Amino acid sequence: MSVLESLKWRYATKSFDKSKKIKKEDLEKIKEAVRLSATSYGLQLFKVLIIENDQTREELKPFSYNQTQITDSDILMIFCSNTQVKSSDIDDYIKLKSETENINIENLKGYADFMKAKLTSMTPEKTSIWTQKQTYLALSNLLTICGELQIDTCPIEGFESEKYNEVLGLDSKGLYAAVAVSIGYRSEDDKGSNADKVRKTNMQLFETIS
Ligand SMILES: Cc1cc2nc3c(=O)[nH]c(=O)nc-3n(C[C@H](O)[C@H](O)[C@H](O)COP(=O)(O)O)c2cc1C
Repeated sequence: MSVLESLKWRYATKSFDKSKKIKKEDLEKIKEAVRLSATSYGLQLFKVLIIENDQTREELKPFSYNQTQITDSDILMIFCSNTQVKSSDIDDYIKLKSETENINIENLKGYADFMKAKLTSMTPEKTSIWTQKQTYLALSNLLTICGELQIDTCPIEGFESEKYNEVLGLDSKGLYAAVAVSIGYRSEDDKGSNADKVRKTNMQLFETIS
């Protein structure tokens, strides 16, 4: 499928068939699309939890407006953004960049200092919003590759982040449950599968300033 075809094919699936499992190699492709996602400065300040444990998913459901996608999809992933940007996050990135691109680390010091000055001085609120934004780009790539693989998904932000943080013990790890996604295969009776896309026209959505 072309990218546009897969964007037309995919939709936010509400009802999943839990008996249908995702192949291991497809899961690896999905993870790779997330890993390759662009992030601001390339820092990748998030972690993606893959929740396999059914009991944990049952625990999360009441904090997700009882949405059945939380428990019924084959896979539930939760994108957790870092609550802080630490100097060590930037040092780790600079080390990786130096090794990957074969650049002397001394030559990256100015860039590291610039990032540290800019990013470690943000207020906690601003930091949290900024790191959460990064997860949405990765989520978007995940939705697109799943469309290409004809795997169904439902992006989910209808949940109480603080409760998720509690259940998953995220606070102590410096993480925040930003957005989730259910991944699997639609059940035969899922009503959305034949629905037309509800979208604004290009006229409404775009404005050319010439
Ligand atoms: C960030 C984000 C969060 C969403 N949260 C939910 C959710 O909690 N529950 C749900 O059923 N759908 C959720 N959706 C699905 C949207 O309602 C859906 O993508 C939108 O109506 C467009 O329809 P389509 O994806 O089927 O084309 C979410 C979508 C996005 C992008």
